[in-house]
This record gives sequence, structure tokens and C-alpha cells, in this order.
Amino acid sequence: MHPIRKAVFPVAGLGTRFLPATKAMPKEMLPVVDKPLIQYAVEEAYEAGIRQMIFVTGRTKRAIEDHFDTAYELENELENQAKRELLALVQRVKPDDMECVFVRQARALGLGHAVLCAKQLVGDEPFAVLLADDLMIGSPSILAQMVQQYELHRGSVIAVQDVPREQTRSYGIVVAEPLDTRISRMSGIVEKPDPLVAPSTLAVAGRYVLTSQIFDEIAAGDRGVGGEIQLTDGIARLLTKENVYAYRYDGTRYDCGSKIGFLQATVDLAMSHHEVGPAFTSWLHSR
Ligand code: UTP
Repeated sequence: MHPIRKAVFPVAGLGTRFLPATKAMPKEMLPVVDKPLIQYAVEEAYEAGIRQMIFVTGRTKRAIEDHFDTAYELENELENQAKRELLALVQRVKPDDMECVFVRQARALGLGHAVLCAKQLVGDEPFAVLLADDLMIGSPSILAQMVQQYELHRGSVIAVQDVPREQTRSYGIVVAEPLDTRISRMSGIVEKPDPLVAPSTLAVAGRYVLTSQIFDEIAAGDRGVGGEIQLTDGIARLLTKENVYAYRYDGTRYDCGSKIGFLQATVDLAMSHHEVGPAFTSWLHSR
């Protein structure tokens, strides 16, 4: 069985829900306390044993490339000023054994299309997909839990969670037969169904471990909901050919693509932050 060595980060979306902040900057660079969203996702993949990070970037790609590049001037300056802790903090963004590769999605044609853009770089091996605007906190990391499930069941694994029925229109919704408390075998998936017709309330969160067969399945499809090439449609075709599993992750997800989710993440992570946590918490309680 092939280990999961590569992670794909689609960061080419338009981020319209966060305009004007995302006019010149990808939403994945929005910071929660002191780290951009994309760094949380990269750290999660690294914790799961992945060392090759593939970013599918769009028109505002520079900030992400720069963030994971060496910052010579800054590092020199910190070294000269003997600011060792800050220097280590900056250098930890990209550990030496981590490789970052960038590919461009010329037009934002949908998440499925963004994943397809990474086909040549991924090649013929299973890989992870992380949507950085879903900030996921868990121990072990959510992706590490999923890699474990992949090794156990030897098939694609999709992260899922229960949502209130009135929210099905915001998610991919799966039909799945439980095998255990957290793992189910999927028999169907639909993108953003109306609550009245949604086949369940089990919603896809932004973490996937996929076999490379997904590329052919995405390529075989037409445009789906919203005129976009949907990853959901590729997964729907994949599960007619291979076992695909839905995994109820153990942890917390913040939908940082929405303002409310982003604010909730900011408050929760600020309260537990090693440096500002106690002061922020006491300020919050005094309001
Ligand atoms: P969203 O559905 O959140 O879309 O994408 P969006 O365009 O980023 O944001 P809004 O809805 O306009 O505010 C989910 C993920 O898929 C990526 C996004 O960057 C995000 O991580 N994506 C989406 C792409 O990389 N390319 C696309 O064509 C579409």
C-alpha cells in the first residue's frame, strides 16, 4: 500500500464572502491570532507525515508563495538583533524536509477543477486534499486520523460531520452505511442539496484522502452545481468503482470561509493561545 506523501491545497477560490479583505489577497492568508489559515493546514498535513505540499494558486498567488519561501532579509535582521525565538518562529514555517510546489489554476472553475490541476504533480499515488478555510483542530490532527483510517481500510476517506438539516444547502451531503462509530462506507454523495430532499445530514468537511483514480473521475464529468466542476461529482463517480469511506473526525471545525466561523476561531484560539490567552480571556469576561 502506498503511503500518503503529498497534500494538495486548493487556494485559488475568489473568496467573495470576505471581500474587500480578499480583493488582493487569498482568504487562506487571513490570520487567526498570529498564523495565516494556510499555515494551520500545512502544519496539520506535516503532522500527518506529509512532506510535499502542492498549492493550487489563483490570481493572488504571491502572498502564499512568499509565506513559504525563505525570508533572507528578515532572517538576517533577526539574527543580527539576536532575536533567536523570533528567528526560529519564522524558520519553522517551512521546515527543511518540507517541499512546496505551486501550480496555477488560471480560472476558478471549481474545487474539482482545482484538484485536477494537481494531477501531474501528484501522479499515480493516493494523496490528501486540505481546504485551509476549514480550520480543523484535533489531537492527533484530523488529517493524521484520516491517514490512519486510510491505512486500515485501504480506500479514499472523506471527513464528515453532522449538521442541522437547514444547513445541507451549504455542504456536500453523503449517504453512508456505518461500519463502526466513526467510519461508514459511502454509497452516495450530493452537492448542496435542499434540506427537503437531502439524503442525510452528514456533511463533508474540508479534508480528503483520495486515490489517484479521482482525477479520471473528475475529468469524466461535466460542470455541476453553480456551473462549477465539483469535487463532489468526482467522488460520486469514484464510489461506484472503489470503496470510499466517510470518517466522523474527532475534533473541532471552524468554517473560516464565513465571517462568523472566522470570528469563532479567532476567539477560541486566542483564549487558548500560550502568549495572549490568559489576558484575552480575562478581558473577554470583563466585557
Ligand atoms: P469555496 O466554495 O469556499 O469558494 O471554495 P471561494 O471562492 O474560495 O469562496 P467564496 O464562497 O467566494 O467566499 C472552497 C475551497 O476551494 C478552493 C478555495 O480556495 C477554497 O479553499 N477553490 C474553489 C479553488 O481553489 N478553485 C476554485 O475554482 C474554487
